[in-house]
Amino acid sequence: MGHLIAYCRAGFEKECAQELAEQSRHAGLPIGEIRGQAGSAFVTLKLDAATSWRQSLAAVHWRSLVFARQLWHATARLAGLPRGDRLAPLLRALPAGERFCGVWVEHPDSQAGRALSPLARALAGPLHQHLVDARRLDGDSALRLHVFFDTSASAWLGVGLVAASAPWPLGILRLKMPAAAPSRSILKLEEALHIFLGGEERKRLLKPGMTVVDLGAAPGGWTWWMARRGLRVIAVDNGALDRRVPGSGDVEHLRADGFAFKPRRRVDWLLCDIVEQPSRIAQLMAAWFKRGDCRRAIFNLKLPMKRRQEEFQRCRTLIEAGLRGRVYSLRFKQLYHDREEVTGFYTGEN
Ligand SMILES: C[S@@+](CC[C@H](N)C(=O)[O-])C[C@H]1O[C@@H](n2cnc3c(N)ncnc32)[C@H](O)[C@@H]1O
Repeated sequence: MGHLIAYCRAGFEKECAQELAEQSRHAGLPIGEIRGQAGSAFVTLKLDAATSWRQSLAAVHWRSLVFARQLWHATARLAGLPRGDRLAPLLRALPAGERFCGVWVEHPDSQAGRALSPLARALAGPLHQHLVDARRLDGDSALRLHVFFDTSASAWLGVGLVAASAPWPLGILRLKMPAAAPSRSILKLEEALHIFLGGEERKRLLKPGMTVVDLGAAPGGWTWWMARRGLRVIAVDNGALDRRVPGSGDVEHLRADGFAFKPRRRVDWLLCDIVEQPSRIAQLMAAWFKRGDCRRAIFNLKLPMKRRQEEFQRCRTLIEAGLRGRVYSLRFKQLYHDREEVTGFYTGEN
């Protein structure tokens, strides 16, 4: 028995299921039934009985999935767990012979799923202790043990590869909102920088004096975030910036149309959070990347209510078409702090 388990934003199960199936098929995994009940915030993909977690997790990677917050391989499905002792059946289902760097007991990030959080928390300690006592905890192990309760009486149990999965429980990076920030949007930017860059890269690529263009900048959260780190920002928006954004020095506010603005010279970062049809944003990004006007970019594509996956693919193709023959990297993720949107990250030739 084997299933791939992917967590996603509630309401995006269809998109998550579609891309998980596509990538699994593309990687040559023999796949069976795929399930993702609307609003459940997770998807399960049945694998051929002969497919091991080594094969499935080598074939499909959390980073390459846009709509999945987390990805791991379930080796057991437990139903009818007794109220009085859920632990014993879980322990019996542990994959034999493996050692783990840790255990996460999780639940769906849905309305119903969040009610399971106390149960998950209560079981995490005893499970961890069992691994310690059984000498199955090893900080150097590449594997993490996952237990995922989808009801109070049923759970999936299996393994995740540390290097090929999200490093946060539930696949959610929890961030603190600084009291002085002008808008909650900064959480989106900060999450994007954590998802798309490693710690060293964040230090190297976000240095004082670097240049940024922020299209659709008002009220100024992203501009504020960059300026606070000493980067020099041109904030393009007809709307007003919050008074907490520095009025001079590192920030220049241009009341202009973001679709018409072009920088005089190449900037280190292009940011774009304009609320517009995704294909228009994709065209705008394609034009910037093609001209080589920015080294890197973080941008949002607001998705329509219907045919979201198709629209997203159309936008991706549009950007890629303008970059044929170039060396670049283009990645997308629906972030925890994203709503009906996905965030893109582009790096071009330097
Ligand atoms: C979601 S808000 C941006 C929030 C911003 N990232 C922050 O951190 O505060 C979208 C912004 O896009 C701006 N906008 C919409 N159309 C625009 C355009 N054609 N050019 C520039 N800005 C535009 C709106 O005025 C609005 O302020």
